[in-house]
Amino acid sequence: MNLNLNNVESPPIDYFNHLLDSVKSNNKKISFGHGIPRYTPNKYANINSDLFENSNSFKYTDIRGDKKLRNYLAEYLSTKLSFNVNPDENLIITPGANSAIFKSLFLLLNKNDEVLVISPVYFNYIMAIEMIGAKPIEINSHSESGFQLNIRNIANSITNKTKAIIINSPNNPTGAVYKNDDLEELFQLCESKDIKVIFDITYFEYIHSNNESNYLSLLKSFDNVIITGSFSKTFGITGLRIGYISTKSNYIDNLCKIQDTISICASSLSQQILINLIKYEQLAIETNLNSVKLSKEILISNLINIPELSWIQTDGAFYAFVKLNNNMDSWNFTEKLINSKSVLVLPGSIFGSQWKSYMRLAYGALCSDDVNEGMKRIKSFIEEIT
Ligand SMILES: Cc1ncc(COP(=O)(O)O)c(C=O)c1O
Repeated sequence: MNLNLNNVESPPIDYFNHLLDSVKSNNKKISFGHGIPRYTPNKYANINSDLFENSNSFKYTDIRGDKKLRNYLAEYLSTKLSFNVNPDENLIITPGANSAIFKSLFLLLNKNDEVLVISPVYFNYIMAIEMIGAKPIEINSHSESGFQLNIRNIANSITNKTKAIIINSPNNPTGAVYKNDDLEELFQLCESKDIKVIFDITYFEYIHSNNESNYLSLLKSFDNVIITGSFSKTFGITGLRIGYISTKSNYIDNLCKIQDTISICASSLSQQILINLIKYEQLAIETNLNSVKLSKEILISNLINIPELSWIQTDGAFYAFVKLNNNMDSWNFTEKLINSKSVLVLPGSIFGSQWKSYMRLAYGALCSDDVNEGMKRIKSFIEEIT
């Protein structure tokens, strides 16, 4: 057995999904669990049979991904960044962003290297870093600041073993959109210390206000940066498994070795479907973003009536990282809530052990009526237990 796996937690969402599945109740089950958008492309795109008649849909693509998809992505990223992305040299299409992140960490790390992560943290970062035999160093962000970056704490956590930092904005699990000034400072700090930045932009399209929107223009080159991204949330295609890495060409050459060994390429059929969907990009983004904003309003209107819960509103993705006042233990809270009200939320501790009195509400997949109903049940559950 690979001993690194001994340290790695089991996939946490699975446990709670199974718990909700096993509940016997006439109540409609409502899940604030998985981070998925509400709309999937079958609402607005007609995936037609040409796809299945096209023999390329069933064959390997280039390791780096289908050329048409890379051309689209290179153009898309080049308009956001202040430099050009070359479709042949700076891109590799992966089976989802998680795969992109794992492959990027595998590229950079040796045993016992340290990687800085911002806590509360997307647990798959920790799992990947530990599997590779490196060490995650958690740096807290604070609810009072809306879970913004704390550059001084980051600087103080750097040692001669620090090889990389991984950040995501808009953030999972907090919904924070990092301030441009902080990002600029972070990029400068990392450049001066030769620390690589893995910048996960999975939720790039989910910014609810115009502030800080095009933060990618802050990057000056790929010298120090690996961008990882996803089509899952933008297009509502979490099950198609397509994401990407964009970085400098010599990294891409090495990443091709890793991709070829682990997956050869991303699913050809999924890439073909995505190519068909590209023309609906704006519609997908607007539909999902409008739905998220509406659900968030309903969430907030309910939260203000529950004094035992507090949330400093954040403006990105579709997550609220909410504090349970009175230091209630959220693991316990979550299990009981699922059993008694058929409502699933995730305990904060799966995003870092110090977040025991928080819970994450993912509101992207729910219509406003379900958000409303779910929050009403949470309120009545809290009233019953306090
Ligand atoms: C921050 C972050 N990165 C990556 C992913 C994984 O995305 P994908 O479906 O493309 O693997 C998620 C999924 O929830 C996420 O929240």
